[in-house]
Parts: sequence; structure tokens; C-alpha cells
Amino acid sequence: MTAIEFTRWAFEPVHIFALLTVVLSLLTAYSVLQTINLLKVKLGLKEAPRPKAKHASWFNWNTENKALWASVPVEQERDIMLDHDYDGIKELDNKLPPWWVWGFYFTIAWGIGYLVYFQVMSGPRQMDEFKSDLAEKAAIKEAFLAANAMTVDENSVTLLTDETALGAGKKIFADNCASCHAADGGGLVGPNFTDEYWIHGGGIADVFSVIKYGVLEKGMISWQETLNPLQMQQVASYVLSLKGTTPAAPKEPQGTLWTAPNAAPADTTAAVATPTAE
Ligand code: HEC
Repeated sequence: MTAIEFTRWAFEPVHIFALLTVVLSLLTAYSVLQTINLLKVKLGLKEAPRPKAKHASWFNWNTENKALWASVPVEQERDIMLDHDYDGIKELDNKLPPWWVWGFYFTIAWGIGYLVYFQVMSGPRQMDEFKSDLAEKAAIKEAFLAANAMTVDENSVTLLTDETALGAGKKIFADNCASCHAADGGGLVGPNFTDEYWIHGGGIADVFSVIKYGVLEKGMISWQETLNPLQMQQVASYVLSLKGTTPAAPKEPQGTLWTAPNAAPADTTAAVATPTAE
């Protein structure tokens, strides 16, 4: 692992979080132990530790340790009040508590790491993060739509118009339907799909229904065992896309002239065809 790789690894949020957790746990454990010792001394279970020779230690949180931190106890703060007086607001020149100073050093160290990672090395910029976020969400959306597509039924079906869907529909049609409806949809045993006439209705929900359940007594097979819902939606959309094309040998119109219930856009056809039951 190179230094750069290591820094990248170390700056992954989960690792920073883990580090913080470990540090905090150690600090907590340390204070718990201190408290237990103190309690033991108070309860007479343990002798008070002999005072050590005083030397400045960065880790000594004891305010008695004045060599380094030299903070003046609250009772004596009066003595170190500066003469500065700003409209009655005075300046107290005490040393900051060790935990505060350590916190400050930590922010400096963090700042340096941040600078190196994002400016010197090629840490992800906000724009990169935004883009990868979008890509992630797009993938979720796609998965959601794909999962939903498999639950499409005659109530929720919508007309697909994108080329991929129509291409898939065309292939399904050629493989399964052309024998009875002709490769160009002009009709053979089954009716012509290129005209304006429909026996069972020319909305996407109607066509989907016929494909799904079939019209068994008339020789139209039910396809729900053979095709999945998405495939039925694709082939239904393809069938509807044939309207207005000119087949080689068009069969005479069957059924009635189909007019959409209203001029609603294609994707609301399903909602129009099957109003929600209240
Ligand atoms: C075995 C022959 C046969 C096959 C295969 C077949 N159909 Fe049909 N289809 C028919 C017949 C016959 C009708 C007419 C039913 C009627 O008169 O009610 C029909 C009707 C339809 C209708 C309704 C047309 C209208 O005017 O309302 C649609 C939509 C349809 N078929 C789609 C398909 C699709 C899509 C496939 C392939 C997945 C397919 N069919 C495969 C024979 C077939």
C-alpha cells in the first residue's frame, strides 16, 4: 500500500469514524478507571497514590499540573484579570483547559489532512460526489422500475415508446405472434393491427388484457404463462406502434372504429381505462 493509498484508505468516512470511536472508548475507559481508583481511595480500600514528581505531561489532565497548562483555579481568576476594559467587559487571561487545546490541535491536524487529500492528492471533489450520487440514485431508480415492470398488469400498464422497448416487442411479436397476425401486423387468422378498428378496444390496457388472458374461444392464446408482464407490455406497445403502417396484405378491418376515451397523453390511458374503484 503506497502512502497515497494509505491516506485514501484512512480518510474513508467509516475508518475515521472507527478511529474516533476507538479514541473515545479509550478515553471513556480511562476516566472510568480513574473514577474507580478515586472511589477506592475515598472508601479507604486503597492508599492514596504518593504524589509523583511534577513534570509537564501532555496527557496529564490534572489542573494541578501548572507547568504546562498553568491554568489558574476559578477562585483565583480575579488575580489574572487584565486591565483591558471594554465598556465593562474585561479580559481574563487564563490558560485553556487541556481537552479544549487538544481539540484545537485535532482540528489543525484534520485541516492538514483535508488539504492534502482534497487539494494535493485527487480526493473526490463535491462535483464528483454529486455525480456519483446521481449515478447511484439512477441505478436505484432503474432497479425499481425494472422490479416494477414485472408487476405490470392491465390496471397499471402504460404505453412504452422508447426504441429499446419497441425493439424487444418487435422480436417477441416476430417469435410468437406473426404466425397468426402476419409479420407486418397485417393480419392472417388474427386481426389486422395497422388499421383503426379493434374488436376488444385499442387502448394499451385493452391490448395488454387480450394478450394476457387471450380470447380462447376465438383462437387467441393467453400469453401470461409464456411471456412475463414486461414482455407483454413491450409487445402490446409494439402492436400499437403498428397503427398507420402499410402491411403487404392487409386483412379487412374487424371490430369497431376505435377512438381513445379522451385525448389524454399515452401514459394516462391505463388510468382512464380503469378508474379506481372507490
Ligand atoms: C394462434 C393464432 C394467434 C396467435 C399465435 C396470436 N394471436 Fe392474437 N389473436 C388471434 C385471433 C384469432 C384474434 C381475434 C380474437 C377475437 O376475434 O376476439 C386475436 C386477437 C388479438 C388482439 C385483439 C385485436 C382486437 O382487434 O381487439 C390482440 C391485441 C392480439 N391478438 C395480440 C397478439 C399478440 C401480441 C400475440 C403474440 C404474443 C398474438 N396475438 C398471438 C390469434 C392469434
